[in-house]
Amino acid sequence: MEELDLHLMSNSRPELFDFEGISMIHYFTDNWKNIQNFQARPDDILIATYPKAGTTWVSFIMDLLYFGNIEPERQTTLPIYMRVPFIEGAFPGLPPGAEQADKLPTTPRLIKTHLPVQLVPKSFWEQNCRVVYVARNAKDNAVSYFHFDRMNMAQPDPGDWNNFFNLFMNGKTVFGPWYDHVSGYWERKMTYSNIHYMFFEDIVEDTGREVDRLCTFLGLSTSAEERERIAKSVHFDAMKKNKMTNYSTVPVMDFKISPFMRKGKVGDWKNHFTVAQNETFDEHYKQKMKNTTLQFRTEI
Ligand code: A3P
Repeated sequence: MEELDLHLMSNSRPELFDFEGISMIHYFTDNWKNIQNFQARPDDILIATYPKAGTTWVSFIMDLLYFGNIEPERQTTLPIYMRVPFIEGAFPGLPPGAEQADKLPTTPRLIKTHLPVQLVPKSFWEQNCRVVYVARNAKDNAVSYFHFDRMNMAQPDPGDWNNFFNLFMNGKTVFGPWYDHVSGYWERKMTYSNIHYMFFEDIVEDTGREVDRLCTFLGLSTSAEERERIAKSVHFDAMKKNKMTNYSTVPVMDFKISPFMRKGKVGDWKNHFTVAQNETFDEHYKQKMKNTTLQFRTEI
């Protein structure tokens, strides 16, 4: 496996800039032409999320559903980010995500994106690909993103919690406003039926049930025994210990600041939001989400 180029990445954090109306960093726009021209195949499956909504969790579930039995060596040799390439990623020292996705030898190809719905390469829609979208309530999503930006030198510096709290509400986080992201895919689902919309909170509440629903969407007839085994393998504690899923192999992440598999809980926002912040956030949220039927749970 090629190594990320530490020298290029660890010295300075990337700057945020406006790209097609979305706050972005160059790691996700450098390869833009190839991303937009990506040729999807009808059986490709796109795993789309706002960052920190449970991408890795659902990626691992899907990898196990499709390849857990037929390629057992994969489980000890291939980190999840190699199995499920990040299509817009263009990190120094690694092949660009679009190229990795293009060369995936598997069928189906599982491909990850954080792009808002309007920036997803057209061919995924044209080929009527399945899209699995995972959404997480805004408060926990914000907290998780804050800790991620603290520890990941390839992300902009989040400043302190209060600073990041404001950035999040104003959509000045990488991949733009959470509000538009989650509601964009939700609205798309009304006209494009091949989207399965999942909630992080539901997976925490009952992983087995969510794996069942996912199998129904994917048209997989996995045995109950197998699904139970998968639910166990993707438990937070198991994934935190598993080097193939815990991102410990990525040098730009400083686990001394915060681990990738941090808490995996619903409601951790209560340990971060002050009473005043919570009031401000709720008021702003009501405005931002007033035109959507999408509902989240901030506790279970
Ligand atoms: P926290 O920071 O709240 O712990 P992504 O993969 O989209 O980057 O999301 C990462 C978030 O999902 C982190 O949230 C991580 O702990 C959580 N997560 C990943 N796997 C999980 C699992 N098996 N169970 C619960 N949470 C999980």
